Amino acid sequence: MVNVIHHALSNPVEDQQAIEVFQDHWRIYKKMVDSDYFAHREVYAIVQRVLKYRFERPFRFLDLACGDAGGVVEALRHTAVSHYHGIDLSKAALELASRNLENLRCTVELEERDFIEAMIERPEPADFVWMGLSLHHLTPEAKEELMAAVRNAIGDDGLFLIYEPTLRTSETREAYLGRAERSIRSWKTVLTGEEMEEVVQHVRTCDLPETSETWKTLALRGGFGRAQKLFDGPADLFALFSFAPE
Ligand SMILES: C[S@@+](CC[C@H](N)C(=O)[O-])C[C@H]1O[C@@H](n2cnc3c(N)ncnc32)[C@H](O)[C@@H]1O
Repeated sequence: MVNVIHHALSNPVEDQQAIEVFQDHWRIYKKMVDSDYFAHREVYAIVQRVLKYRFERPFRFLDLACGDAGGVVEALRHTAVSHYHGIDLSKAALELASRNLENLRCTVELEERDFIEAMIERPEPADFVWMGLSLHHLTPEAKEELMAAVRNAIGDDGLFLIYEPTLRTSETREAYLGRAERSIRSWKTVLTGEEMEEVVQHVRTCDLPETSETWKTLALRGGFGRAQKLFDGPADLFALFSFAPE
């Protein structure tokens, strides 16, 4: 049974814009996901292995900026998940997530809300927090603040995994954007010319990737005790990290 919670949004104008951007971009993003541009199949297979290895006991899974939860639902199959909580600004995303999560054998809660606001006010704990391709829009200060809020939520036995755009060592954002643009433009069998322009424009405007070292440092500053890279994504553009309390 899926329980959907709607919140009065704190800044309706900005949030409405984010929702519209989501709706415009989602169809294109989905095309890229379906063609495995981001290597989501491998990423979610790793997430599943980590979940099975770390949690033989029932665990509570928190998915920040869950989107349609299409990939994560596969990772959660055959695990001991007892509660899934997905948070996303977009109502449209949550409607899709609600359908994708229908057959998961645990309680499901979907919340239409800004994840930063939700984490800062969060009263209840989670065992495993997941963030896929959504933390990189924040400034370094806000990333660290979010890391600290997640650290508070997971207690001493939890885990936080992120999969995010990642710079090579000493690479500038400009150099990364050049590589990202070349990679997007090589995906011509999947995207039309117009769609490619939209993706390039989005990446150039919104993406604030960090180096692996910086991602780890932000987590350590946020209160985590251990930070490690688990996987390098395609074309060296993304990376999967695990942050643990100890
Ligand atoms: C690129 S999609 C990623 C979806 C999913 N995590 C995945 O890996 O496929 C980014 C998602 O973040 C959501 N989002 C962006 N900013 C948000 C915020 N401040 N609070 C909640 N959700 C947000 C968007 O609505 C969208 O669903």
